[in-house]
Amino acid sequence: MHILHVVGARPNFMKAAPVLRALSAYPKVHQTLVHTGQHYDASMSDVFFRQLELPRPDCNLGVGSGTHAQQTAAVMQAFEPVVLERKPDLVLVYGDVNSTLAAALVSAKLGVRIGHVEAGLRSRDRSMPEEINRLVTDQLSDLLFTPSPDGDENLLSEGIHHSKIHLVGNVMIDTLLRLLPQTNANLPESVSTPYALVTLHRPSNVDDLPWLRDLLDTLSHLSSQLSVIFPVHPRTRQRLDDLGLELSRHERLHLLEPLPYLEFIGLQRCAAMVITDSGGIQEETTFLGVPCLTVRKNTERPITISLGTNQLVGRDLKKLCAAAEEILRRNLSSASQRKSLPLWDGSAAERIARIIVRCSTD
Ligand code: UD1
Repeated sequence: MHILHVVGARPNFMKAAPVLRALSAYPKVHQTLVHTGQHYDASMSDVFFRQLELPRPDCNLGVGSGTHAQQTAAVMQAFEPVVLERKPDLVLVYGDVNSTLAAALVSAKLGVRIGHVEAGLRSRDRSMPEEINRLVTDQLSDLLFTPSPDGDENLLSEGIHHSKIHLVGNVMIDTLLRLLPQTNANLPESVSTPYALVTLHRPSNVDDLPWLRDLLDTLSHLSSQLSVIFPVHPRTRQRLDDLGLELSRHERLHLLEPLPYLEFIGLQRCAAMVITDSGGIQEETTFLGVPCLTVRKNTERPITISLGTNQLVGRDLKKLCAAAEEILRRNLSSASQRKSLPLWDGSAAERIARIIVRCSTD
């Protein structure tokens, strides 16, 4: 059986790594790894391949950046000949990025079966490009691997047959559990504890420049109470340059380059709180027991609120400040808040591999 994995952007790499590893235990499975090149900076891609011990991609489509249509079309055009040449039995796609959607569209039109890892998540906010990618990818997929029961419910309510849906758990947590012992919090020089770790890159936060300016003012205000470490995504870096802000005057607000996986997890596990608009980080903080304030109006990962440490603060900076101050005041240890969620146990990828192999012989 030939399985072709498609990855493209930073959050795909930690999801694909355990699945490649789990499938490699089956001698009859032949695997091909395609990198679309959506993320291309060394700090967004190469270092993740090294730390996650991902094999070198068999091909890199080198699509780079562009508008959504340009990027999606570039992946489709470059990916179609790869599928025609390599003739996989199954294409595995991950998460919700443009590369996921593009690869699913190409595979569906060529009649190749598709497996979607991290299926069923919904924010119900179609202004998010990722929500469009999720909806379409799930409709086209033959095997839908969900991380939590809400994913199954969403898919069933969209008319997807239950026989295609497999609740397997969270592959991102597989990677986290495997690599956690290798992490430690190497604080940048001049940073003291306690600290907040910040990531922001969603268009809704960083493409709206007046809002981004207000957000930064809030972070700078918070930095009078605790250090703030902010590894800056390339998209956000471009917007900060557009704003031309003089950030160096905020002594305890530390803007860094994007961090490698082990360093980032190391900082996350020891943070007093995380302030983010990422999807995956809401899950990682829940697993680690670190309070998370999500600067979004909605989340496709509601289980991180109902069972985890996540709070939505929406577009309300007063709420963000009050929630941060409350976390500082309560000063709970992450160990006491650690939650074990069903099937977030380090074995999700093995379950996926078993299902794929079983379905190929049915
Ligand atoms: C993408 C995903 C998002 C994911 C995020 C994680 C989509 C629609 N969005 O958003 O779901 O959470 O990745 O990082 O697929 N850039 C660089 N170097 C890089 C990569 C990007 O400079 O290595 C710049 C690009 O030039 C572009 C911007 O960052 O201007 C955005 O990149 P893009 O891949 O379009 O989307 P992200 O915002 O990274």
